[in-house]
Amino acid sequence: MTETLPFPQDRTCPYHPPTGYQPLREKRPLTRVTLYNGRTAWVVTGHAEARALLTDPRLSADRQNPAFPAPAPRFEALRAVRTPLLGVDDPEHNTQRRMLIPSFSLKRAAALRPQIQRTVDRLLDAMEEQGPPADLVPAFALPVPSMVICALLGVPYADHEFFEAESRTVLQSTEPQGALTARRRLEEYFTDLVAHKREHPGDGLLDELIAERLATGEMRHEELVSTAMLLLVAGHETTSNMLSLGTFTLLEHPEQLAALRADPSRVPDAVEELLRFLSIADGMVRVATEDIEVGGATIRADDGVIFSTSVVNRDGAAYASPDTLDWDRSARHHVAFGFGVHQCLGQNLARAEMEIAFTSLFARFPGLRLAVPAAEVPAKPGHTLQGLVELPVTW
Ligand code: HEM
Repeated sequence: MTETLPFPQDRTCPYHPPTGYQPLREKRPLTRVTLYNGRTAWVVTGHAEARALLTDPRLSADRQNPAFPAPAPRFEALRAVRTPLLGVDDPEHNTQRRMLIPSFSLKRAAALRPQIQRTVDRLLDAMEEQGPPADLVPAFALPVPSMVICALLGVPYADHEFFEAESRTVLQSTEPQGALTARRRLEEYFTDLVAHKREHPGDGLLDELIAERLATGEMRHEELVSTAMLLLVAGHETTSNMLSLGTFTLLEHPEQLAALRADPSRVPDAVEELLRFLSIADGMVRVATEDIEVGGATIRADDGVIFSTSVVNRDGAAYASPDTLDWDRSARHHVAFGFGVHQCLGQNLARAEMEIAFTSLFARFPGLRLAVPAAEVPAKPGHTLQGLVELPVTW
């Protein structure tokens, strides 16, 4: 039996793993799959094995390694460019990450809460003024994280249409050249922005990095530009998908939503459970640098290894009734933010944004509901971050 499943696949329901992954769920903890280009790779689906492998230094995140698997054509094109943090291994990774950790600590995220609340309130005011119906993606889910990351980095939000469109192309294009061109445009944008900031310093994280790391030679110019790009893209595209898909999921689970409305102190638990349940970053990618024995299989050096977070986070050995949305479970230990050295740098910020956004949205619009049948809400394809293209709502 050499039949292998195609990976990735589109979700059938926007908040469940693709039904086509059922065989992967049955064959835990890891299975061989076929990628779009005919190459095979391992997909890890067991929770314990995923956490063990994500901390295993024999797996590399180096996207420039010719053996690094490409789950979609754009990965091939982006091989030409070096991605800081996400795409490098220790010790280089550790050096880069240490420079950023203080800006993304729990304390920093807590200090940003009043500013996040003001941003959320302003956007909700605008929705209310405009009146129903609304597309929640451009009205709320996208601008909340976009405005927050702009303020944190010191990037002018006035440029949001440009960088949101280019980020989308980098993350979603099925055209390799399109993804590369969009990345180059973002690179030019940040090169100009850094040059401007060197003349006219502001008070964002980029300004700090210019003054404290670039000036001292700890960070090279290209590294600063590509780090800025990564933070901007990772900072808005991810959380916006959680806000759109999370809202849709809550509207489709009225009992769970009612429980949250009755007791907003449960929102942090709900955010954790939504992270597990939705697993929007469904496919973290690595390459093995040595043979690894795991779960009764041998991953060989140069084998590609992909982590399907949606399946890992629904492992029945780790979570009872994994397909049920349940605020009472302890969803901690999910891998929705990854695990190990690359675990999401922005997770404290993302949690703060989600807690404030969900609480305020449902408090402001008690009658919030879908404006079209759920089956007509367009979801994103399987090869990119999971989320909704549009979310028509009324109230
Ligand atoms: C709910 C929203 C978010 C989700 C689900 C998410 C998910 C993830 C995941 C799964 C990884 C690990 C990728 C891997 O191991 O290959 C990651 C890494 C990362 N995330 Fe997030 N993320 C979110 C929000 C953010 C925000 C708001 C930022 C802010 C800048 C951010 C910045 C980063 C960075 C810089 C990394 C790379 C860390 C490293 O390699 O050391 N993320 N994220």
